[in-house]
Amino acid sequence: MEVVITSDAATLAADAIEALVRRNAAAVLGLATGSSPLPAYRELVRRHRAGTGPSYGKVRCFLLDEYVGLPAGHPQTYRETILRELTDALGIDRDRVSSPDPSDLRRAGVRYEEAIRAAGGVDLQVLGIGGDGHLAFNEPGSSLGSSTRIKTLTERTRRDNARFFDSVEAVPRHVLTQGLGTILRARHLLLLAAGEAKAEAVAAAVEGPLSASCPASVLQLHPHATVLLDEAAASGLERSAYYREIWSEKPDWQGL
Ligand code: GLP
Repeated sequence: MEVVITSDAATLAADAIEALVRRNAAAVLGLATGSSPLPAYRELVRRHRAGTGPSYGKVRCFLLDEYVGLPAGHPQTYRETILRELTDALGIDRDRVSSPDPSDLRRAGVRYEEAIRAAGGVDLQVLGIGGDGHLAFNEPGSSLGSSTRIKTLTERTRRDNARFFDSVEAVPRHVLTQGLGTILRARHLLLLAAGEAKAEAVAAAVEGPLSASCPASVLQLHPHATVLLDEAAASGLERSAYYREIWSEKPDWQGL
């Protein structure tokens, strides 16, 4: 796992995504919602509008997760959020953006796994981390080998996400989420975290034991996982001096 402590995670993440799309115009991107990836998405959109980004016309996208119970087209569905914040602005056709389908809960998980497989798998998966260590909507206790399925949110996650709704009561209780096993099948994992509120979860994920109690600790199993942190999110790490040394000595040509 590569841990990078930086004040410019958005630039690094945008560079990595652009480099992938330049290498492979038909790349498959895994997209997270939440606030953590937003600066990176805004940077991609800024570059695209400035005409310096690659063409995204052939890219395919798969969302990590989706709420269950919101009407289709509700502005807080993760699908609408990602269309609004990123993919429409990059000129990615809406047909090329897939998300778990809450209108067909019985079959949604299997169908989503099949769709990802049929697309050739995810090349780069953008991730955030919940304050309790959740990854996508895999709450503590999730099977480390899980696939896309319905999950029940914890009270804490519903409270954390209430800022996007009128009240906690308005936050759905159920979600569809890629499993931890699904996420591990992506070829590159890129996790972004910022702020003190994430420090404990980041420390548990990066330096704690591999455990379903901290779902994000599955990153330790992945052969190519990158964790981009600001100073506050990195403040609970014991080996931060070592991570900084590795990063400062890293040759530019290696990329992330
Ligand atoms: C939500 C999402 C996760 C996200 C997490 C952190 O629960 N399902 O994918 O990583 O929240 O969100 P934020 O980045 O807003 O802190």
